[in-house]
Amino acid sequence: MKGQTFIEGFAVEAFQRDLISWFAKEQRDLPWRKDNDPYKVWVSEIMLQQTRVDTVIPYFNRFIEQFPTLEALAEADEEKVLKAWEGLGYYSRVRNLHAAVKEVKETYGGRVPNTVEEFSKLKGVGPYTTGAVLSIAYGIPEPAVDGNVMRVLSRIFLVWEDIAKAGTRKVFEEIVRQIISHDNPSYFNQALMELGALICVPGRPSCLLCPVQAHCRAFRKGVQSELPVKTKKGKTKEVQISAAVLENEEGKILIHKRPNEGLLANLWEFPNCETPLTSENPKEQLTNFLRTQYGIEAKLAQPFATIQHVFSHLIWNIVVYQGKIIGDIEETERLKLVDKQEIENYAFPVSHQRIWGLTPDALKR
Ligand code: ADE
Repeated sequence: MKGQTFIEGFAVEAFQRDLISWFAKEQRDLPWRKDNDPYKVWVSEIMLQQTRVDTVIPYFNRFIEQFPTLEALAEADEEKVLKAWEGLGYYSRVRNLHAAVKEVKETYGGRVPNTVEEFSKLKGVGPYTTGAVLSIAYGIPEPAVDGNVMRVLSRIFLVWEDIAKAGTRKVFEEIVRQIISHDNPSYFNQALMELGALICVPGRPSCLLCPVQAHCRAFRKGVQSELPVKTKKGKTKEVQISAAVLENEEGKILIHKRPNEGLLANLWEFPNCETPLTSENPKEQLTNFLRTQYGIEAKLAQPFATIQHVFSHLIWNIVVYQGKIIGDIEETERLKLVDKQEIENYAFPVSHQRIWGLTPDALKR
């Protein structure tokens, strides 16, 4: 087996001791480490996917204050849940979490399942989340391998495989299965994450401070900065968008709810359409879009802002107009006129929160 060759000559027990005793002393005081409530551990692990610890902390605290138990989250309105996630991005994470806790409430009487078979079948739960939650909350020795853990282990075991390839995670999971502490899987997995965050960082790691330097093959060879191997993604796509903050005669603002699938599903936005750089008259194109898609006659003024929003795979360049709605419009579930003071009760993507932030005061009053 592939993994066997990696741990030949590796002092597994000394490594576990050095790693875990370092974590016991040096771990950061993080709100999800206060107890091992499986629900809270689960929420934290979902938030921490693709989002930095410093960003997550205030969101986690507010989320748990608002939804302190699995039941509370299961019973909450989707609108409220999306609002609590507003700004964290990758909203499918929270929609899946919401669906999954409802299933736990119905199928498992509200108790988070403690087996790989059951937990890993829940919506949005992949091998990383399974390993993280089962090890931290229930002490089950399952690997929890994310990008940080791959970086750490690629150095310790001199693994030159490309971590951008989907299949590579399995190589690391196999290594973890062979070296994980069965006495304390929770600390073992968290210690690997912590080492990746504090010491074994990308680029130039702080090897002189590393508690497992003596076990590290990359350090011994002086190649720690060359690992992990990670091929670059292709060029991100850029999309040009024109958007409008539109006011009707009563001073209400028009907002639209995005489709319930795809990017930023079910979040609210200011009406907008794609206007490619080749478009000769984006303002006219947006006016036509409002007429044909929403049945709205609008008079647009000059743009008041341009906003760039960078996603992991996509860039939005948004030009924002202000304008007036002429006559009446037909409101629907997904197209609403709202009082200006109420805008902040709706969940918007960050780019559209910024649009509202940049809207001239004269229009907001
Ligand atoms: N990154 C992912 N999970 C983490 C955790 N439990 N603690 C700190 N950083 C993390």
